[in-house]
Amino acid sequence: MIDDERILFVPPTAEDAAITSRIFTEAGIQCTLCEDIFIVCDALQHGVGGIILTEEALVPQRAIHVLAERLGGQPPWSHIPIILLTRDGYDSAIVNSAVQCLGNVTLIERPLAMRTLMSSTVSAIQSRRRQYQAARELQSRQRAEDEVRRLLAETREREQSLRIKQAQLVQAAKLASIGELATGVAHELNNPLNNISLFVHNALDCLQGLPAGSEDEAGRATVQLQAALQQVDRAAKIIRHLRTFAREASVERGPVSLPTVLNAALSFVAEELRLQMVRVTKSFESSMPVVCGSQIQLEQVFVNLLTNARDAVAQSNTRRIEIKTEVRSEDVDVQIIDTGSGMDKDMVSRIFDPFFTTKDVGQGTGLGLSIAYGIIKEHQGSITVKSSPGVGTCMTVRLPLYHPTATVSSQALSCADEDEDNSEDRLAV
Ligand SMILES: Nc1ncnc2c1ncn2[C@@H]1O[C@H](COP(=O)(O)OP(=O)(O)OP(=O)(O)O)[C@@H](O)[C@H]1O
Ligand SMILES: [Mg+2]
Repeated sequence: MIDDERILFVPPTAEDAAITSRIFTEAGIQCTLCEDIFIVCDALQHGVGGIILTEEALVPQRAIHVLAERLGGQPPWSHIPIILLTRDGYDSAIVNSAVQCLGNVTLIERPLAMRTLMSSTVSAIQSRRRQYQAARELQSRQRAEDEVRRLLAETREREQSLRIKQAQLVQAAKLASIGELATGVAHELNNPLNNISLFVHNALDCLQGLPAGSEDEAGRATVQLQAALQQVDRAAKIIRHLRTFAREASVERGPVSLPTVLNAALSFVAEELRLQMVRVTKSFESSMPVVCGSQIQLEQVFVNLLTNARDAVAQSNTRRIEIKTEVRSEDVDVQIIDTGSGMDKDMVSRIFDPFFTTKDVGQGTGLGLSIAYGIIKEHQGSITVKSSPGVGTCMTVRLPLYHPTATVSSQALSCADEDEDNSEDRLAV
C-alpha cells in the first residue's frame, strides 16, 4: 500500500493549471497535473489522495469507462475521492454518466470560488487518509490472525508429536521390562509344562495297564488328565498376561479392581523374587478397592515399583517386600515397602527424572518411575516416596476410588479370585 496524498488534476486550460498548481502548493497540497484521464489512470498505481476532473476531461466518453475499470481494480478498502468541476451539473449527460460509473464523486459547479475547491480538496484528502488508516488496521489485524492461525497449527502439531512420543516412550519402557522379565516368565512356564508332561505320562501308563472293565483305573486316569488340564490353563493364563501387557495400552478406562492389578503385576515378578529368596507379604483390604483407569497401565506402574524393590533388596541381608492397600473415604493407598538399600534425599529428588538410573548399562533405562509418575498423574493420583539409606523404601501410590460405594463387577471379582489363588502358592517363598 502506498500512502500517497497527491491530487491528480486534469485542468481545462494551461492558465487554470498554473493558477491551481500555485494555490495548492502554497496550501501545502501536493498536486500532479495530468493531460487527460488516461494519464490519471497510469498515475493511480503510485497511490493517490484524490482526483480533480472537469467536464472537458470526460471526453471521449471511453475515458470514463477506462477510469472506472482502473478504480474497480483497486483494493476493497479504496474509494478514491473524485471532484468533478461542472458547468451544467446533473443536466449534463456526460456528468451523469461519470457520477454513475465512477462512484464517490463530488460535483462543484463552475464558475467556482477557489476557497470552495480548496475545502473540498482538503476533505477529499482527509477521507482518503481515513481509508489508508482503515487499510493499515485491516492489514495488521490480518497479520495477527495469520500469526494466531500459524501458532495454533504449530501447537496442534507439537501436541500431536508429543502424544506420539509419549506413547512410544510408554511402549518402549514396557518392552524393556518385558525383556527383563522374560527369563522369569520362561521359567514360570517351564514348571506347568513339565507337570503336564508328567501327568499325561501317568495317564498313559494307567490306560496301558488297564484290564478290561476296570472302573477304578479309569477314574484315576480321569483325575490325572484333569490335573494336566489345570496346568495347561495355568500356562495359558501366564501367556495371556504377557500378551496383554505387551499390547499397546488402550486409552479406554473403566472400573478396575486394584487387587487384580496388584496380583497380575506380582505374577510377572514372582518367579524372580522366589529365585532371589525375597519374602513377599500382601496385606490387602478385604473391601476390594476399585479405581477408574487402564488395567494395563496400572499393571505397568506396579511391575516397575516391584522390580525396583526387587533390585533394591538384592544386596540386603533381609530381603522383604510388603504390598499394602489402605482404603480411605475417597481414595486408596497402595504401598510397596522394601528392606533394600534405601536412598538419600538428593537421590529421592531425582528418581522421577527421565533416564535417571543407578543401574548398570542394560539393566535399567531410568524411565520406569518417570512413566509411572505420568500414568498415575493421568489417573488423578500421586506417587510419594519415603526412604532411608540402608533401611529401605516405601513407595505410596494414591488413586481416587472409582466410587466410594463401588463394588467390583462379578467379572473383576472372579478375575481377582483366580489371581489370588495363583499368586498365593508362588508367593510363599
Ligand atoms: N525402591 C527403591 N529403592 C532404592 N532405589 C530405588 C528404588 N526405586 C527406584 N530407585 C532408584 O531410582 C532409580 C530410577 O528408577 P526407575 O524405575 O525410574 O529406573 P530404573 O529402575 O533404573 O530403570 P527401568 O525402570 O527403566 O528399568 C533407580 O535406578 C534406583 O536408583
Ligand atoms: Mg525401574
